[in-house]
Amino acid sequence: MVISGKELATEMKRQMAERVKELEGKYGRVPHLVVVLVGDDPGSVSYVTGKAKAAGELGMKSSTILKPSTISEEELLGIIEGLNRDREVDGILVQLPLPSHIDADKVIAAISKDKDVDGFHPLNVAALWLKQPCLLPCTPHGIIRILKHMGVEMAGKRAVVIGRSNIVGLPVAKLLLDENATVTIAHSKTKDLGSVTREADILVVAIGRPKFVTADMVKPGAVVIDVGVNRDPETGKLCGDVDFAACEPVSGMITKVPGGVGPMTITCLLENTLECFERNMAGK
Ligand code: GUN
Repeated sequence: MVISGKELATEMKRQMAERVKELEGKYGRVPHLVVVLVGDDPGSVSYVTGKAKAAGELGMKSSTILKPSTISEEELLGIIEGLNRDREVDGILVQLPLPSHIDADKVIAAISKDKDVDGFHPLNVAALWLKQPCLLPCTPHGIIRILKHMGVEMAGKRAVVIGRSNIVGLPVAKLLLDENATVTIAHSKTKDLGSVTREADILVVAIGRPKFVTADMVKPGAVVIDVGVNRDPETGKLCGDVDFAACEPVSGMITKVPGGVGPMTITCLLENTLECFERNMAGK
């Protein structure tokens, strides 16, 4: 069974569009997301375009600040400071990766934690690990949403996450743990990876290598969530970290790339923007 993240995202966006209209009536303006893009990496440009398009579909306002990759760290920090102070900006997203002369950790920490729609600020990360209210990182939250929507029981199940990034691997492992799954984090140095992944009732793959997960690595009937966005070296087409054609028959449920996790990431980003707006307008 193929899981459509796109369908769930469409339904969530429909509901959010109604909420945006209601809030516009109440407050006289709509949520405003600002995306900062440094440089012209084609992957980043396409992500940012997708985010702006989805915001527009919901009736939200989005602005993109484009800066050349030669921008200094100081100037970038100055831009963020201005956005933090601007009362009509509800969410701030700095597209990653940043050029190597800029300290990304410093930039992320400079974003107001209340406008941090990515959930990357150290205070939001700490709150996640302490199980306190916070802005959740979008891809991990989208994955949990998909699993709940599909009625996947997580409590007591073996979940294996391949990848340990701050953006996906670590936070999704924590969210699965919060759902009472028994969680293993595997990575590029894991020995005999197949023997680990074959234990997984739920397998989340975020390693960034095209078609890395093969059919022999999947437990029959497992739920497979593919976070990868790669170019297939043979066909040049978009592909995930999972060899979909080979793994689909073995799996119980599986997401596709594109149309799987990606649309839910964007939807959760817009949900965070809406939440920031509501808190901002309520003066909290
Ligand atoms: N680059 C790749 N994924 C992401 C993301 O979720 N947020 C930001 N800001 N940059 C990214």
